[in-house]
Amino acid sequence: MNIRNTTALVTGANRGLGKSIVAALLDAGAARVYAGARDPATLAATVALAPDRVLPLALDVTNPDHVAAAAAAATDVSLLINNAGALGFGNVLDAAFERDFAVNLYGTLAMARAFTPVLTSNGGGAMVNLLSVVALASMPGLAGYNASKAALWSVTQSLRGSLAVSGIAVHGVFPGPVDTDMAAALDIAKTSPADVAHAILAGIEAGDEDIFPDAMAQQVYAAWKTDHKAVERQFAAM
Ligand SMILES: NC(=O)c1ccc[n+]([C@@H]2O[C@H](COP(=O)([O-])OP(=O)(O)OC[C@H]3O[C@@H](n4cnc5c(N)ncnc54)[C@H](OP(=O)(O)O)[C@@H]3O)[C@@H](O)[C@H]2O)c1
Repeated sequence: MNIRNTTALVTGANRGLGKSIVAALLDAGAARVYAGARDPATLAATVALAPDRVLPLALDVTNPDHVAAAAAAATDVSLLINNAGALGFGNVLDAAFERDFAVNLYGTLAMARAFTPVLTSNGGGAMVNLLSVVALASMPGLAGYNASKAALWSVTQSLRGSLAVSGIAVHGVFPGPVDTDMAAALDIAKTSPADVAHAILAGIEAGDEDIFPDAMAQQVYAAWKTDHKAVERQFAAM
C-alpha cells in the first residue's frame, strides 16, 4: 500500500518504537495518525510532532471498552499498526506469562477483530503486527515474551489467510534488539527506533508479508532458514 494520504492508527504510540512509527508515518505523508496510549497524558510529545495530523486516543489494548471505543471513533483507518507490547523477564519455570500474553497476544487479537470491519469498509488496507526474532527461536530468559510472540506469529498467519478475501494485507514484523526502554536492560547492539520505523514502512509499501527491519533480524532470519536448530542453540546460550 501507499502510505501517502492514508489514515493510520498506532498502538503504544507514546514512547519507544510506537512514537518513532508515528514520526515515520508523518514523514511518509500520512494524512492522519491516531496515536493510542494507555494514558493519553503521555502522548503530548507524539501529538506535538504534527498537532494538526496526530489525534490522541485513550487505548489500553487489554481493555475491551477502550478497543471498542477506538474502533467506533477511528472509522477512517486503513492502516492499523499493532505496536503495543510488554516484556517480562524470567525463565519458563518462574516467569509470569500473563501480562505478556494479555498485551502481546490477546490485546493484538482484540484490535485485529475490532478493526477488521473498519479496514474492510475502507477498502482493505493493511494490518501490521509487531512480533520479534524471538518468535522464531526462544531466548530462555524471556520465556513468556517468546511464547506470546510465537503465538502472535501464528495468529498473524491465520489473519493473513482469513482477511485476504477482504483485501486486507497482513504484515508480521520481526525486529532484532531496538534501542528503547524495553531493551534497556540488554547489553547488546541495538538499532535505533527511527531506523526500524522507516524500514517497517518500507516493507509495508513493498508488500512484504514478513518484515525484518534491521541487520540483526535479517541475519537471524537467513541463519534460521538455513539451520533453525543452530539459531535455537545460539539463542539458548544468550
Ligand atoms: N525493543 C526491542 O528490542 C524490540 C524488539 C522486537 C520487537 N519489539 C516490539 O516492538 C513493540 C514496541 O516495543 P518498544 O521497544 O517500543 O517497547 P517499550 O519502549 O517498552 O514501549 C512499549 C509500548 O507499549 C505500550 N503498552 C504496554 N502495554 C500496553 C497496553 N496494555 N495497551 C496499550 N499500550 C501498551 C507502552 O505504553 P505505556 O507507556 O503505557 O507502558 C509503550 O508505549 C513491542 O510490540 C515489542 O514487543 C521490540
